[in-house]
Amino acid sequence: MIKYQGMEFNTCKNVYEPAEDTFLLADNLEVKKSDIVLEIGTGTGIIGILASNIAQNVVTIDINKYAVKCAQNNAAINQAHIDVRLGDLFDPVEDEKFDLILFNTPYLPTEEEDVVDDAIDAAWNGGKDGRTVIDRFIDGLKEHLNPDGRVQLVQSSLSNVEETIGRMMEMGFEVSITACERFFFEEVVVLTGTLI
Ligand SMILES: C[S@@+](CC[C@H](N)C(=O)[O-])C[C@H]1O[C@@H](n2cnc3c(N)ncnc32)[C@H](O)[C@@H]1O
Repeated sequence: MIKYQGMEFNTCKNVYEPAEDTFLLADNLEVKKSDIVLEIGTGTGIIGILASNIAQNVVTIDINKYAVKCAQNNAAINQAHIDVRLGDLFDPVEDEKFDLILFNTPYLPTEEEDVVDDAIDAAWNGGKDGRTVIDRFIDGLKEHLNPDGRVQLVQSSLSNVEETIGRMMEMGFEVSITACERFFFEEVVVLTGTLI
């Protein structure tokens, strides 16, 4: 069990346990009361649940069925109202649009031989260059954002932060690094973008 901002979150088997990257995003969330929020890759649900302390309308998604159960359970424990859905990236919100989209991405470069045959693999496996999920996420972003919509995503220097910034700018986002933490072999950043 993890305590954060006076709330308690159960960790669950086969689900990403909140770590430094989770707390970097949690500490730097830019949620407004009026926001309709989408969190992709909810894991234990901690980010979506924190967002729901401020915004009333929060949808969270995970591709891992154990994470969906875990997030629903943590929402119940914290009496949080979040709508947790199972699926790949934006599939479960096909026609829906949001004011703020959050994602602590699976950003680790992962070779074929390092792939784990387990639901937890999706938590960190970013493919060979660490960008497989990040790039698919960026591709779907604009279609699911309201005008002036914002995005906050977490990634590592191991998966080419400049590439993400460049791609988002090409799509019409103003982007900045709003948090950054150095670890032994990487820097983890929170990128915050606004559609202009
Ligand atoms: C680094 S973990 C973050 C979990 C949680 N948000 C946190 O910060 O502790 C990434 C999460 O994204 C989920 N995920 C990975 N690929 C996904 C995809 N294509 N669609 C939806 N969720 C995905 C994983 O299952 C995992 O729960």
